Amino acid sequence: MTKALFTRGNWGSRIGFILAAAGCAVGLGNIWRFPTVTGQNGGAAFVIIYLGCVLLLGVPVMLAELSIGRRTASDPVGAFKTIAPNSLWKAVGGLGVLTGFMILSSYCVVAGWTLKYVLVTINGQFIGASPETITHIFTTFVSDGTSVTLYHLFYVVLTVWIVTGGIEKGIEKASMILMPTLLLILLLLVLRSLTLPGASQGISFYLSPDFSKVNLSVVMSALGQAFFSLSLGMGAMLTYGSYLSKKENLVSSALYISLADTSIAFLAGFAIFPALFSVEGLSPAVGSGLIFLVLPNIFNQIPFGQLFGTAFFFLLAIAALTSTIGLLEVVVAYFIDQKKWSRKKSALLVGLGAFLFGLPSAYSNGASTFFAGFMDAIFLYFGEISLAVGALFICLFVGWKWNISAALKEIRYGCSYSLVPSIWAFLIRYICPTAIAIILIDQFLLELIGYRLTAIMALYLGL
Ligand code: PHE
Repeated sequence: MTKALFTRGNWGSRIGFILAAAGCAVGLGNIWRFPTVTGQNGGAAFVIIYLGCVLLLGVPVMLAELSIGRRTASDPVGAFKTIAPNSLWKAVGGLGVLTGFMILSSYCVVAGWTLKYVLVTINGQFIGASPETITHIFTTFVSDGTSVTLYHLFYVVLTVWIVTGGIEKGIEKASMILMPTLLLILLLLVLRSLTLPGASQGISFYLSPDFSKVNLSVVMSALGQAFFSLSLGMGAMLTYGSYLSKKENLVSSALYISLADTSIAFLAGFAIFPALFSVEGLSPAVGSGLIFLVLPNIFNQIPFGQLFGTAFFFLLAIAALTSTIGLLEVVVAYFIDQKKWSRKKSALLVGLGAFLFGLPSAYSNGASTFFAGFMDAIFLYFGEISLAVGALFICLFVGWKWNISAALKEIRYGCSYSLVPSIWAFLIRYICPTAIAIILIDQFLLELIGYRLTAIMALYLGL
């Protein structure tokens, strides 16, 4: 056991682990996707539903992943093999590793965009630019396959370099620097945004709920967003948990990581909505163009916009990096534990694979018609559907296969609260799988027949 822990690596400190896991969770999902979906789904009411999803579904699934990881001290495939030998359950781990690889390959491409935007803003290219010019800058860049590929390569290399350093000296050390920097920049941006004229309109959009906008599809979006943002369903938290000692309190760890992830997403809303409302004619419901197409119009008009614009894209770049590290680590852990490769060889080869597999994504936004839509498809099938499928099987595994009392025993090491584990057992057995199954059915119906569950129910109930 000691030898296994020694060769696999271990977190050096509790705070280091929390920051690394929070770093894996905090990513483009928090700073780009959360404000985007909040804007599209009516603001405050969505935020409240999102918080409910994090607490009732996200935290329990995270706790499940951490407990499987720590109990088995193994990568996702090895973890399922250890608890349920000679069964098909290892396929759930396999799906997680595959999902990690797929998301990583496309995620590095978008991460590369954020870096390009740091440079564009520093160079002052947005100063005085009209909305048309801003759109033109974006479309010219994303359709230039070679340049997108170079930025993508840069991210892959950076991620491989950090992951090669190992758990404590690579991932933990990087997170200890990157996460506080991220928080500092975000707070600075929130301060700037809140002090803009007209900010109060944005604050009220963000904080006063209008429940008339809520329907089942809003709840579905909140759930999907919660899983993606908390990095659940593909064994990332399982892998991070596998480097934890029995002394650690898993319950409080899951709560801290979720709290950090949710607070950063919430703060990102404060950086974006007040600024958005301070500029005439911009709507919060613009969709995914919010970050690259709309925000430069704001940085263009506010005092010190160039500085804050640069800081914003730098923030996105850091957030993306701490997530690509987590994504790569899941796949690397698989090759180290299952194939007995060295960390260096695993990181290099998986990195090379992710770079190559990312090329169709790099060319999918205008550079090549053949690959058009490739990146969106990867994010839909792996970033949404596969994470939900993985999370569903993780709940069923922990709640029904592993034996809930064994799972509870693992959770109780290092945890002195007696009530929390029992509430968790109820959520993970009944509530989480049911809720996740509903989102999946909804997604499949949408894909197969083009209607959401909500639309069919409304029709059926004659609403
Ligand atoms: N949570 C990350 C984000 O918010 C994405 C991610 C998903 C990272 C799954 C690792 C695993 O951007």
